[in-house]
Amino acid sequence: MSLLQIHNVNKSFAGLKALTNVNLSVKEGSVHAIIGPNGAGKSTLLNCLIGKLQPDIGTVMFQDKSLLGLTPHEINQAGVARVFQTPEIFGDLSLRENVMIPTLARRDGAFKVNCWSRVDSQAEIGEKAESLLEDVGLIGKKDEMAGSLSRGDKRRLELAMCLVQEPKLLLLDEPTAGMSRADTNNTIDLLKKIGERGITKVIIEHDMHVVFSLASKVSVLAQGTVIAEGAPEDMKSDARVQEAYLGGAHL
Ligand SMILES: Nc1ncnc2c1ncn2[C@@H]1O[C@H](COP(=O)(O)OP(=O)(O)O)[C@@H](O)[C@H]1O
Ligand SMILES: [Mg+2]
Repeated sequence: MSLLQIHNVNKSFAGLKALTNVNLSVKEGSVHAIIGPNGAGKSTLLNCLIGKLQPDIGTVMFQDKSLLGLTPHEINQAGVARVFQTPEIFGDLSLRENVMIPTLARRDGAFKVNCWSRVDSQAEIGEKAESLLEDVGLIGKKDEMAGSLSRGDKRRLELAMCLVQEPKLLLLDEPTAGMSRADTNNTIDLLKKIGERGITKVIIEHDMHVVFSLASKVSVLAQGTVIAEGAPEDMKSDARVQEAYLGGAHL
């Protein structure tokens, strides 16, 4: 079953066609990578999914409901979370408190997120926060101030703050951009681990090592259209993909 269905999406910027008739179907539980050279339209497509941009033509359906016209906040409420760009860390609070905040805020009515499961007592919220910190490998630092974390650890914390919202779809925009090979491998391991929760993921990624380590399906975007789609191994050897990447230098 497809969780996200993008149909015939077109988007232009002052006459420049950034996306032309893009169709994409993301299967529930899958890790779907969107790759493509610079300027292919990847960020534009992602922005159309999270409500930062509206397509000129086309439809975006999430769980059979249209996301068109919804604000980024409403799309987030519907269960779509974007990782590594949105969460704000509170530097002078502990890691444990940081992970508790989204749930406490909801419980105390600061905002309502209807996709989150009900968690009532402070103790339960604390337990849930600790189990997520365990998952992302930060349990040993749960009482430290978030502001003192290294960059890599901050990303782990952000991921925990995202997971506590229990999203159905995680969008990852170049999750390893600017990271060393060692940090990239740690992030791959971390994403594999959270993959065990069965959350559907869409990853926009330049780094083929990351794509081949994680994705079950790859869509290749070039000049605003999907030029090829399939299993990662097949995309690696696809002539159209090689050409889009100028002789396969990136593959
Ligand atoms: N806000 C914008 N205004 C004008 N042109 C844009 C804007 N955003 C993207 N573009 C253009 O749309 C095309 C696709 O860009 P983008 O989606 O950022 O590609 P990618 O993320 O694959 O590198 C590029 O030609 C880019 O210059
Ligand atoms: Mg981009």
